[in-house]
Amino acid sequence: MFKLAAFFPVLPLLRLVAGQSPEWGQCGGIGWTGATTCVSGTMCTEYSAYYSQCIPGSAAPSTTPVTPTTPISVPPASSSTTTTAPTGLSSIPASTLHQITNFGTNPTNVGMYVYKPARVASNPPLIVASHYCGGTAQAYYSGSKYAQLAETYGYVVLFPSSPNSGTCWDVSSTATLTHNGGSDSLGIVSAVRYAISNWGVDAGRVFAAGTSSGAMMTSVLAGAYPDVFSAGVVDSGVAFGCFALPGQPDDSWNSQCSTGEEILTGQQWAQKVYAAYPGYTGEYPKMQVWHGTIDTTLYPENFWEEIKQWTTVFDYPSTPISNVSESYLPQGYSNATYGPRFQAILAQNVGHTVPLFEQQYLEFYGIA
Ligand SMILES: *[C@@H]1O[C@H](CO)[C@@H](O)[C@H](O)[C@H]1NC(C)=O
Ligand SMILES: *[C@@H]1O[C@H](CO)[C@@H](O)[C@H](O)[C@H]1NC(C)=O
Repeated sequence: MFKLAAFFPVLPLLRLVAGQSPEWGQCGGIGWTGATTCVSGTMCTEYSAYYSQCIPGSAAPSTTPVTPTTPISVPPASSSTTTTAPTGLSSIPASTLHQITNFGTNPTNVGMYVYKPARVASNPPLIVASHYCGGTAQAYYSGSKYAQLAETYGYVVLFPSSPNSGTCWDVSSTATLTHNGGSDSLGIVSAVRYAISNWGVDAGRVFAAGTSSGAMMTSVLAGAYPDVFSAGVVDSGVAFGCFALPGQPDDSWNSQCSTGEEILTGQQWAQKVYAAYPGYTGEYPKMQVWHGTIDTTLYPENFWEEIKQWTTVFDYPSTPISNVSESYLPQGYSNATYGPRFQAILAQNVGHTVPLFEQQYLEFYGIA
């Protein structure tokens, strides 16, 4: 009995499918129906219950299966609608996930969905909520409380959808890591700029959040577009630039970074941020990073590298000014504050990914 129950979750991975996935292609994960074997010279490597990818060679991170913490039920297609180039927020249907197109420069064809609550605050804040590898805008919409809480607080949400096979975000190319340089980050920012110009969104209250690959994208947006975003919440991600793989396909997986082997000084990490937008002299977004201590997809070393990076950017001391447990958080979570613009929450015995605490993120943004 027990053996059978334990066996069921891996059954989809064993299904025989014709063909093989290419290098960097997806080869498994919840909901994946494509090829589960890889072309020769690459190895199918599980990064999370949602996502396995064909990695060149045999250098692969731990394949310890992890329990998914984000529900991925996808709402029926009829719950989303499409329109072309809406003018004004009034043209967006309320309380439904709604696709937009023609929102500006979008070199990689990022999909874009908006959630507008029934009652919109005047000059509303905007949250960009980016999904994990294997996810979609629809999955992150239904698997998070961003839309539900928008009904209470009146902000607008953008749910981008990755155009890449395997639906990871491009957080590795030079283009995506450069201000106005192109790729997925520019597509997302174009939608933000569109929202500011056409929907009356408050340009001073644009926020980013994301899980896993979406967390890495959040770091990318914060580092390359500090003029656009006021704050970022990184749930189980990496430091800005850690995934950089110049010259490789857009959404390549950086195993050196994911396994926590990319160890730099705070200055070196800060330089990566500055190099993304040379000449920028304004403030960087407030950052809040969350990470689990037993994360085997993006190893917990990445948490400490993020701390080095953002404390250097903010010129904060390298040790927290306070580090406390919070009554609303599970036991074993600690909230280390380094200054008003940076907090780092470490979750003992939590893997990939830390569950979402959306209400807390809204407080951090100053929305709630
Ligand atoms: C905060 O304190 C906890 C519990 O002592 C510790 O495990 C954690 O490493 C500390 N966090 C930081 C960022 O120093
Ligand atoms: C962490 O502590 C700071 C300082 O007390 C507080 O402002 C912030 O809301 C806390 N963050 C979380 C995630 O609980």
